[in-house]
Amino acid sequence: MRTVILLAALAVTATSMASAALAAEITYRKHVLPLWEQKCMGCHGKASPYLGEFDQNKEKFAKMMVGPRMDSYANLVAFVGWPDTGALMRRLDDGKNTKNGKPGNMYGYLGSDDAERQKNLVLIKSWVGEGGWFLGRLRELDKATLENMKVVE
Ligand code: HEC
Repeated sequence: MRTVILLAALAVTATSMASAALAAEITYRKHVLPLWEQKCMGCHGKASPYLGEFDQNKEKFAKMMVGPRMDSYANLVAFVGWPDTGALMRRLDDGKNTKNGKPGNMYGYLGSDDAERQKNLVLIKSWVGEGGWFLGRLRELDKATLENMKVVE
């Protein structure tokens, strides 16, 4: 019995170490940027307005299929941790963590079929950090969750 428990504990440790190692390797420059350029930059690139300007004319830009600018590491992490806390996660979640159980409205852009979308969601989730995948607003964000947001450049 004791051996079984010990083996089970070892297996859990090995698995979490493996996923920690995997997550640690996910960086903006190596993994997120290439995906971003392929799937998101067309509407969130250099030609897009910064969030302040976007918000002033939200409807106009949305009609033109122009989203707020997220064309660099700094401009993207602003939609993860602060000031637009949780925006990236709310929009990209597949429905497993959203309040209404529906996917966020940018989830569809992650891929042309469900397998590709799921694969890319796993990548973005690993980049943000499993414990940092937070869909709430700034006022609900606690320090532990913030610390779990890895977003390695
Ligand atoms: C075809 C154009 C298009 C593509 C491609 C696209 N988006 Fe968007 N996105 C928009 C528009 C337009 C808005 C603003 C309207 C809205 O809020 O839905 C937006 C809004 C957002 C927001 C919310 C920003 C805020 O106001 O807080 C996030 C986050 C986001 N997109 C992420 C992504 C990600 C990640 C991808 C790639 C997987 C992506 N988008 C691909 C057009 C696009």
